Amino acid sequence: MTTIKVRKNGPYRVIDDGDGDDVTVVDWNGREYPAPERPIALCRCGASATKPFCDKSHARAGFTPDTDDGEDSPAAG
Ligand code: FES
Repeated sequence: MTTIKVRKNGPYRVIDDGDGDDVTVVDWNGREYPAPERPIALCRCGASATKPFCDKSHARAGFTPDTDDGEDSPAAG
């Protein structure tokens, strides 16, 4: 199973449980983006120089999502 975890003030982290179903990131033409690391972190702040992947620029940019209500969800971590 693959889980996409929304990090508070950070990327979408794509976590594979190792069951053999690999995750591939492709663009609208089906062109594959080789993932620089596992688990894959996808940028949601727009500041990454390595889109679609997160390069940790969200921290420097002070990213906070519009949808953040300031509360941690039960699954936060
Ligand atoms: S979420 Fe990390 S650089 Fe955008």
